[in-house]
Amino acid sequence: FEVDWDAEAVELGVYEDFMMKEIHEQPEALRATLAGRLDAEGRVDLSETGLDLRHVNRVVVVACGTALHAGLLGKGLIERLARLPVEVAVASEYRYADPVGDENTLVVAISQSGETTDTLAAVEAARYFGGKVLAVTNTRGSLITREADAVLLTEAGPEICVASTKAFAAQVAALDLLALELARVRGTVSDDELLSLGRDLRRAPEKVAAALALLEGKTEAAVELFEDARCSLFLGRGPAFPVALEGALKLKEISYIPSEGYAAGEMKHGPIALVDEQCPVVAILGEGVLREKTLSNVEETAARGANVVAIAREDDAAADRVGRVVLCVPDAPEILRPLVWSVPLQLLAHDIATDRGLDVDKPRNLAKSVTVE
Ligand code: G6P
Repeated sequence: FEVDWDAEAVELGVYEDFMMKEIHEQPEALRATLAGRLDAEGRVDLSETGLDLRHVNRVVVVACGTALHAGLLGKGLIERLARLPVEVAVASEYRYADPVGDENTLVVAISQSGETTDTLAAVEAARYFGGKVLAVTNTRGSLITREADAVLLTEAGPEICVASTKAFAAQVAALDLLALELARVRGTVSDDELLSLGRDLRRAPEKVAAALALLEGKTEAAVELFEDARCSLFLGRGPAFPVALEGALKLKEISYIPSEGYAAGEMKHGPIALVDEQCPVVAILGEGVLREKTLSNVEETAARGANVVAIAREDDAAADRVGRVVLCVPDAPEILRPLVWSVPLQLLAHDIATDRGLDVDKPRNLAKSVTVE
């Protein structure tokens, strides 16, 4: 995708680059994606897809890159609410895996562009066993919309920056809707609880906007910790784990700092060997029992000299103890936390890369849409 510089200057408005602009467009991307699909009482309506979900007994998500991470978040929610087994497959692997399934398998293919070759081929592979394909895409009329049985459009608007931010947020919201709908159809969650979750989801734009407001101009101390970084680790548990994977991908894509996302509890089985003063650790602490467990994993890294950036709620005293720097996020309903945690990671990646004088919108060697194998 090529744009001339004049057009960019107009389109950028007050922002220095498209990445920053698109990070700030997340509340609008979320609002537009939920609009017409979630009413004021919290009722979900996905009848536009025309899919009969009653016989679905298994879900497979196929995707690449950032979309894959959205899929991992979707897996967590679908399994928890709808009690359906969900497999998340890297599209380039799935296409050659001779995958198992039948006509009751719902294949959810997530692709911002709708043109990614591997994801399209994974859809084709699902055809062999008769799986029903739902495409979650940001691009009307894209190839995937023609290949799939049904389409759920994310309404993030055009995303110019190679590193995806607002399209990711919209994908997560679309999968949240799907999880609620599957739970309703299967009767795995009470009506009251479903409506309450739906009303929580409606607050996504507000909560992400609150995170943006809270974090504005707050990344400087964290960016400094990355000045001499050799590598970095992103840690989280439960829903914070896919967010950690996405945070690490974002940072490596645009800053070229080798970054790994890891399940916090798995870190002791390898990555902890990387830890020293030049390997900052970004820890998404999370909530509840997982927060306690994550905290103790992160303390292990701090004890080995890691400079820790903790992503935590504003009033978290334990985060202040373990983190050299704390990036605060607003309190949010459980279903919205992954979206809220993503905001500081996006801003951090952006600010580290710009601090290094790099072009965040067009990182080297990467393309916005990968139409080759
Ligand atoms: C490329 C982009 C990534 C994107 C991935 C999948 O690698 O650089 O940002 O996540 O493709 O793209 P898609 O359009 O299928 O979501």
